[in-house]
Amino acid sequence: MRLLVTRPGSSPALSLVFAMVVAAGCAGGSSPQASGTAEGSAASPSPALRDIAGSRQIGTAVDLPQLKTDTRYAEILAREFNSVTPENALKWERMEPARGSFNWGGADEIVTFAQAHGQKVRGHVLVWHSQLPGWLNGGGFSGAELREILQNHIATEVGRYAGEIYAWDVVNEPFADDGTWRDTIWLRGLGQGYVADALRWAHAADPGAKLYLNDYDIEGINAKSDAMYELVKSLKAQGVPLDGVGFQAHYDLANPFPSDVAGNLKRFADLGIEVAFTELDARFKLPVTESALARQATYYGQTVAACLAVPACVGVTVWEFTDKYSWVPGFFAGKGAACLYDENLVPKPAYGAALAALAAQAP
Ligand code: G3I
Repeated sequence: MRLLVTRPGSSPALSLVFAMVVAAGCAGGSSPQASGTAEGSAASPSPALRDIAGSRQIGTAVDLPQLKTDTRYAEILAREFNSVTPENALKWERMEPARGSFNWGGADEIVTFAQAHGQKVRGHVLVWHSQLPGWLNGGGFSGAELREILQNHIATEVGRYAGEIYAWDVVNEPFADDGTWRDTIWLRGLGQGYVADALRWAHAADPGAKLYLNDYDIEGINAKSDAMYELVKSLKAQGVPLDGVGFQAHYDLANPFPSDVAGNLKRFADLGIEVAFTELDARFKLPVTESALARQATYYGQTVAACLAVPACVGVTVWEFTDKYSWVPGFFAGKGAACLYDENLVPKPAYGAALAALAAQAP
């Protein structure tokens, strides 16, 4: 049963209810056994995540097939989250499948849903090496042509959603795993300056949008996050319009939780930008066990807590909220169950941990 509690701690009785709900979520609200039950599976503890997020964003990636066909999915999406990120609809292969021909339909549907439910929209993604259309990847374009193609793509897409998409991942994954520049068509054709140019073009198309660089495995302090830090410092020194860095946070429980995540966020914030977790999930080797779910919950709880510990951290976005539609099993054989909700849309201990971390800081 969903209880209409908007602010935990507003009375002793409500605090008690809230604590019980959180405990249930953390202690097996979605046990492997319980996960199989469909009955009441859309029910979720109350308050909803967005009810206690305050001014912070608690967001999720969203893709169109599920949004259009799964009413329980859409119901939870609307109830729990105050921000959405189109998971694929804004990517180049979908948006500009033929040169100069833009396909707005999918992204428009997500933006319309978000506006109807009081949700912000994060734009993902303008410049990336993946999910590029064949005409672009195999086009053999000169540097000058590539520059014109990129500028037109950014100006058209950002301009189309000016005032509606509040932040953009302008450049995604510019670095390789060792912190060197990633070898992409953009780097090869345009040199490292493509990052500054892309940010300037996006700013020209919507001066009000928050412009981000986004990458994975930069949550802790390491060679890759050092490279991102130096890039941000250099761009800020040049006066390039850059507002934030997104930390994807695709965790694998085979690896320890990164050390000093809050300290890492803070060093970026000290450069005068905002920060956010943009693609949180935590995969593990299947099958699902109680201990894996409990350990996974700590990754979610620590990530939300790290964001809340840093004033410049504007929020946390999960990369799909349910295992039913997660990208993970398709990319990592034998791994999965990475999300807040299981495949039956039942909240997992990770949900309880995220809720508890938010509640600990709620006004
Ligand atoms: O839409 C086609 C469909 O028509 C076709 O029949 C089917 C057959 O494979 O593919 C469908 O496209 C898939 C698409 O997701 C939509 O489901 C692609 O194959 C598949 O590669 C694509 O995967 C996406 C992946 O990025 C691509 O790299 C995932 O959904 C998406 O979650 C994932 O997201 C990325 C972020 O953008 C950047 N950070 C990492 C993150 C996880 O990889």
